[in-house]
Amino acid sequence: MLIRRTAGIPFSEITPEALYTDRRTFVGIAAGAGLLAAAGIAGSTLGRGRGAMNAIGDLGGAPEDKLTPYDDVTTYNNFYEFGTSKADPSRHAGSLRTHPWTVRVDGEVARPADYALEDLVKPHKLVDRTYRMRCVEGWSMVIPWQGFPLADLLKRVEPTGKARFVEFTTLNDPRQMPGQRMNVLPWPYVEALRLDEALNPLTLMATGLYGKSLLGQNGAPLRVVIPWKYGFKGAKSIVRIRLTEKAPRTTWNVVAPSEYGFYGNVNPAVDHPRWSQATERRIGEWRRRATLPFNGYADEVASMYAGLDLRKNF
Ligand code: MTE
Repeated sequence: MLIRRTAGIPFSEITPEALYTDRRTFVGIAAGAGLLAAAGIAGSTLGRGRGAMNAIGDLGGAPEDKLTPYDDVTTYNNFYEFGTSKADPSRHAGSLRTHPWTVRVDGEVARPADYALEDLVKPHKLVDRTYRMRCVEGWSMVIPWQGFPLADLLKRVEPTGKARFVEFTTLNDPRQMPGQRMNVLPWPYVEALRLDEALNPLTLMATGLYGKSLLGQNGAPLRVVIPWKYGFKGAKSIVRIRLTEKAPRTTWNVVAPSEYGFYGNVNPAVDHPRWSQATERRIGEWRRRATLPFNGYADEVASMYAGLDLRKNF
């Protein structure tokens, strides 16, 4: 993100997955939306989300939200462990080995443990959540994720009374992640949330998208997805989830604190020092559209920041 952006964007033709016909839908967040889309009823049943099928939000009335094609979601990525250009992750992530995979859950929890990925995921019911994603660089996508609410995992490991933050650490292995042989960021990549943000029902531990297991470039085998925040908050390929009393140091905030705040909440009224955040370009489109406060999820999340000066706490 500090590094210059690639000029040409390799948009592929839209080649929709059989199960996810490219259609003008929908939807903010709807459990089961993917399956319903497959059945061809997403737009009508879940069109504005509220109430139906456990839907817990919508896209804030923005026009023409439709799924970003799978090819774009998997070839236009930020994952500096595999290189700094948008095409690098899909080119190089084949070297990532996701079996076996262990996730350490520790810190301020009653039940710290090293979990084999299967044991971590298995007790949870996987849900479909289609979220609008907004990168701090000014582009956005709409992605149908599969995963489980982080809150469900946190309840399982029982946070202690001291727990106030949740830190996520990405794998650190330069043999598998060629970008880590370069000094572009201090490795490993670390991100964090306040505990209440981590417990918010929107916060998802994703294991798949478009009904398929995550590919390396999207953060296989496990990543965090926080749809009201800029994309950099969503750490990929997570090997450790640590609950802490003090605010963790997070990668982009350490590297450039004036540019990347701890919160990273999407806010069209607070510009990045080097560019406006008022508008965004949806990948696959050329026009710019207005960016919405909290990325359109204000109803679900704004109350967590009541009384906080969002210009200072950006
Ligand atoms: N996680 C790690 N470990 N390394 C990264 O470079 N990039 C972040 C985030 N998670 C990044 C990361 C940024 S800036 C964005 S916008 C999103 O991943 C992009 O996710 P996507 O490529 O799946 O769309």
